[in-house]
Amino acid sequence: MTVSKRLRPFGVTIFAEMTALAQAHGAVNLGQGFPDWDGPDFVKDAAAESMRAGGSDQYPPMPGIPPLRRAIADRYGPLLGRELDPDTEITVTTGCTEAICATLLGLVDPGDEVILINPYYDSYPVAVALAGAVPRHVTLRPPDFRLDLDELAAAFGERTRAILVNTPHNPSGRVFTREEMEAIARLCIEHDVIAISDEVYEEITFGPEHIRMATLPGMAERTVTLSSIGKTYSLTGWKVGWAIAPPAFTAGVRAAHQFMTFTTPTPVQHGAVAALRAPQEFYAELRTGYQRKRDLLASGLAAIGFEPHMPQGTYFLLAGYSQFSDEDDRSFARRLVEEAKVAVIPPGVFYDDPRHGHGLIRFAFCKQDAVLSEAVERLSRLAPR
Ligand SMILES: Cc1ncc(COP(=O)(O)O)c(C=O)c1O
Repeated sequence: MTVSKRLRPFGVTIFAEMTALAQAHGAVNLGQGFPDWDGPDFVKDAAAESMRAGGSDQYPPMPGIPPLRRAIADRYGPLLGRELDPDTEITVTTGCTEAICATLLGLVDPGDEVILINPYYDSYPVAVALAGAVPRHVTLRPPDFRLDLDELAAAFGERTRAILVNTPHNPSGRVFTREEMEAIARLCIEHDVIAISDEVYEEITFGPEHIRMATLPGMAERTVTLSSIGKTYSLTGWKVGWAIAPPAFTAGVRAAHQFMTFTTPTPVQHGAVAALRAPQEFYAELRTGYQRKRDLLASGLAAIGFEPHMPQGTYFLLAGYSQFSDEDDRSFARRLVEEAKVAVIPPGVFYDDPRHGHGLIRFAFCKQDAVLSEAVERLSRLAPR
């Protein structure tokens, strides 16, 4: 066994496993959350132009190129309701995934507790482990996946240093309500805890308002807001993310970032400047497009016997499969690839206790309409139990 003890418990990500299975079986892949189309030309042109113009080939500044930090400050200042200083409050990272890791490594000490809301994005517990911290789990349960405020309060204690919050939430598609966000904020203030707010799906909502943690009273000074261009601009392969935080927290994020990746490739940072300066219509179209895809998939699945949990945001949909099987989610997902030739993700991997994922599978609907329809058509041949 060559993998370190720290990382051994986490094995290979479910995405690699399901993608390999999908390829082996010629399956339609609704597993991993990336669009099956290219990103916008105006962003690609900006990156290409920066390469052609020269000056883009060497290390950029450690916290990110100044025009990108300026563009982040300009876009998020109004959204977060305060002026942001690009020099002391914004750090460009290699995707949100690096920002999550850098924030935990830079602000959390070994032995500190970090609260994770289950189901979670799968890098969270790994980043907590890398920081030597101890996870405390709070679980969202079907059918409504609401935060149980008593369970949440019970997770906070003397050793709590941070809570990782993700809204709009992958994989449930929940957009946390103001009441839920305020409950988290109250506890953070009461226990002097840092809120690490992963908002990568901030622009993909279907009605409910996305509440930004840093805008709640008393939270600007204790929140690290994280996001990236991956989901909003259909550029998951570019891996440009950022952390927005008050100077003292930014110092911690940068302390880790400078020795993890040091920087993010210069040309894609120039592209990100153009992305962040997109007109309002861009975001409206993004939402309309995804809402249509959500409805297409959800109605298709419901018509053939699945029980979709209608997402309020993100491009993921959890569905129950009780009419087809009482197998656990992992076995059922495996059988779907092999028999129906459709790849999905078993959400048990997103829980500390995988049994909570039993009875659910996760579909990604960031795919062409024809691909979504083909998946439903293939699934319609599954025999009910
Ligand atoms: C909740 C959440 N956070 C972060 C990420 C990763 O973001 P990035 O690709 O910018 O590293 C994902 C990707 O699926 C996600 O679902």
